Amino acid sequence: MKFFADSADIAELRACHDMGLVDGVTTNPSIIAKSGRKIREVIAEICSFVEGPVSAEVAALDFDGMVREGSELSAIAKNVAVKVPLTPAGLKACRHFREKDVMVNVTLCFSANQALLAAKAGATFISPFVGRLDDIGLPGMDLIGEIRTIYDNYGFDTNILAASMRTVNHIKEAALIGADYATAPPAVLKALYSHPLTDKGIESFLADWKKSGQSI
Ligand code: E4P
Repeated sequence: MKFFADSADIAELRACHDMGLVDGVTTNPSIIAKSGRKIREVIAEICSFVEGPVSAEVAALDFDGMVREGSELSAIAKNVAVKVPLTPAGLKACRHFREKDVMVNVTLCFSANQALLAAKAGATFISPFVGRLDDIGLPGMDLIGEIRTIYDNYGFDTNILAASMRTVNHIKEAALIGADYATAPPAVLKALYSHPLTDKGIESFLADWKKSGQSI
């Protein structure tokens, strides 16, 4: 499974990148707004040190607007993936950009049928939002399994990018089901390292080592 960091915070992204946790980056309009920076500037800076796909989302809702904004965004760097919402105009824009060999991340997917449509439109990534389904009392992770089955049934090569991952358990479950990618905030990615028994083990080993009086 590959990891994308869901953030536009350069310091956080660099820290995760140094830990080998960044196969790519996803952003959305809320994340860009939180950064307090202009979208072109922040996406360009991310692309200067992240080699994998960097998703930048259009804000337009109509096809022409999406094409205009997506073209601007994809011109920033070769590894920009244009992110479009799962709407008829979004999937039309997806076809447009895929014909030009630009990566497309189809976002805001909440059903298996929507994911099927995105695959038929040639999406590079489909982003099913697990956490937001959980938020309204629906089993978000079931959607990942349904999409995996459908894509395997028909040999679609659209990558399943499990999104809205809020916990390390989300990431484990998505990996067990076979999602190709997961995108999560840097704090969740860094938490993948953590286990209380690792900390406890280090503590007891170091205490015994100190008592032995040895050094290496
Ligand atoms: C993915 O591309 C989205 O930016 C993200 O996963 C949304 O997560 P949230 O539901 O926690 O905001």
